[in-house]
Amino acid sequence: MSNRIGDLITFTLFGESHGAEIGVVAEGLPHGIPVDTDAIDRQLSRRRPSGAISTARRETDPYRIVSGVFGGYTTGAPICLTISNGDTKSKDYEELSYRPRPGHADYVSLVKYGGYGDYRGGGHFSGRLTAPLTAMGALVGSALESRGIRIGAHIYSVGDIKDTPFTPTDHQLAAAGEGFPTIDKAAGERMEQYMKDAAAEGDSVGGVIEIAVTGVPAGVGEPWFDGVESAMARALFGIPAVKGVEFGAGFGICGMKGSEANDPFYKDGEGRVLTKSNNNGGINGGITNGMPIIIRIAVKPTPSVFKEQKTLNLRTGEVESLSIKGRHDPAIIHRAVPVAESVAAMVMADLLAKRYGPLWLKGEDK
Ligand SMILES: Cc1cc2nc3c(=O)[nH]c(=O)nc-3n(C[C@H](O)[C@H](O)[C@H](O)COP(=O)(O)O)c2cc1C
Repeated sequence: MSNRIGDLITFTLFGESHGAEIGVVAEGLPHGIPVDTDAIDRQLSRRRPSGAISTARRETDPYRIVSGVFGGYTTGAPICLTISNGDTKSKDYEELSYRPRPGHADYVSLVKYGGYGDYRGGGHFSGRLTAPLTAMGALVGSALESRGIRIGAHIYSVGDIKDTPFTPTDHQLAAAGEGFPTIDKAAGERMEQYMKDAAAEGDSVGGVIEIAVTGVPAGVGEPWFDGVESAMARALFGIPAVKGVEFGAGFGICGMKGSEANDPFYKDGEGRVLTKSNNNGGINGGITNGMPIIIRIAVKPTPSVFKEQKTLNLRTGEVESLSIKGRHDPAIIHRAVPVAESVAAMVMADLLAKRYGPLWLKGEDK
């Protein structure tokens, strides 16, 4: 079972939704990185459920850094960050151990772990584990920011409602700002209403998140299987409910002519090599070309819907009606925005460490 991403700087995820604690262990981060607790709190609060478009489970997420940080700075030893689980209602999940939710991981977990898996609240597969991931990614993200690398994400679309997309050649990130994570706040309101309408019908919705990483120099990424696309896709697909990842113009590039799809090079007034368009999302041959890295991830509708569904009773072998109890997000997408930023930060930290050495992250060039 692999719960780890990264090679030089690794992040290992552990825990279950209704277990005692969940957390992440980071290894390989250099000493001397200031731990920006405000950044961690801000990202956790963006991920936290609130209001009618989120689960009724109230997660306060008081995190603890139990190792690897001393006097406000990383020490160079493994950093273990944990969050304890409160507000669990495990009884809601008992029947799902033999009447699996369609679209969730109940059935596959049962098959793979022979009934020993912790099914409560989705167990190890729960979106709850993205809380420590978000916190650790915030720590890493603030280190990247000190090196001029900014990572931001917003909801690109929900249903047929679209936010203003990132301008792919813009090196100044147009962040979504506070509140619901869209750049166009009116589009955000329409999305929220769409989510509330689905929730009122006992249903759920999905959408697309767009991520931009700016300030990454050209030449980062390893050829073939450890390129930026490969490393990002592997990690982003790990986020529960992510079903697609595309870069730059994505699948849309296939409909273009080569002359349109290619991004012509030029030099700006400051002597920087740039490209006029950015259909390749800042990546050629798996390696950054100095343009913003543009990524979109497809987030499916929350599988747990209150609307009656059919499932197989694994004890009786009969197809039965399933009315899910428990507390679930009618949409995951808004909460997954800071998660995506954090995961992208972790991947970038590892790729940058491979290029420049881990100490580069704290301001020392190789
Ligand atoms: C932040 C976040 C919150 C989530 N909350 C829920 C939830 O309340 N109910 C649910 O059924 N799935 C939720 N999920 C999604 C499931 O964890 C996910 O669909 C499930 O583990 C199956 O994995 P898959 O969709 O990648 O195949 C959430 C995912 C994320 C990222």
